[in-house]
Amino acid sequence: MSVLGIDIGGSGIKGAIVDVETGKLLTPRERIPTPENAKPEDVAQVVKTMVEFFHYEGSIGAGFPAVIRNGIALTAANVHKSWIGLDANTLFSSATKCPVSVVNDADAAGIAEMRFGIGRDYPRGVVIFLTIGTGIGSAIFTDGHLVPNTEFGHLEMGGKDAEHRASDAARQEKEMSWKRWAKALNDYLNEIHSLFWPDLIVLGGGISRQAEKFLPFLDVPVKVLPAKLENQAGIIGAALHAAEQGR
Ligand code: BGC
Repeated sequence: MSVLGIDIGGSGIKGAIVDVETGKLLTPRERIPTPENAKPEDVAQVVKTMVEFFHYEGSIGAGFPAVIRNGIALTAANVHKSWIGLDANTLFSSATKCPVSVVNDADAAGIAEMRFGIGRDYPRGVVIFLTIGTGIGSAIFTDGHLVPNTEFGHLEMGGKDAEHRASDAARQEKEMSWKRWAKALNDYLNEIHSLFWPDLIVLGGGISRQAEKFLPFLDVPVKVLPAKLENQAGIIGAALHAAEQGR
């Protein structure tokens, strides 16, 4: 079965058609910049453009950077505040005339990584998956089962949201060296470890491709590994989630 997976991020909206049995992309990945301010109507237009680009009809899965309960966005850290309380399933379904199932972006990426990436080697225990990009997203799995909508990027560190100190956006904005940024990430991972005592922490998002630049600086009493699916995880996971919802 193939499903269009869309990963809505703070800077780009990425999509591809996914074979949900194998987790492989059946098309190249298409990327459209996220409209400025990421307002609902503008984002819905891009999702529609993406569907037209692929000449796609059928079930769609979309990862979105907010808490999503039953398709409704309940937070809006890096997108327009008017998303809060909005039924994203209905908004995207009416824009595309296809059934769309929305899920938190980090949950989506984590689902894919557990099914087709690193999770294959770690099916048991507590795994914390973190996506590090514009913000920090999180997904926690116990024996492969997801607890949805965790928001560990908003843990407070030194009076600030952790994602304002340790995200990739923070690294770039403050022009931090990898070593300096790794120190912030290290503090954050140690905080996560002291609260959840996971068996494994997986780091995903764009930075997973540059792991050799910062992993050597980390000192955390738990195994920390880069994600395997790189920038495809969000797309694949959104498609898997939609397939599981039967939408
Ligand atoms: C949002 C999360 C999201 C993460 C990564 C955070 O700011 O609150 O819901 O998963 O960014 O995009």
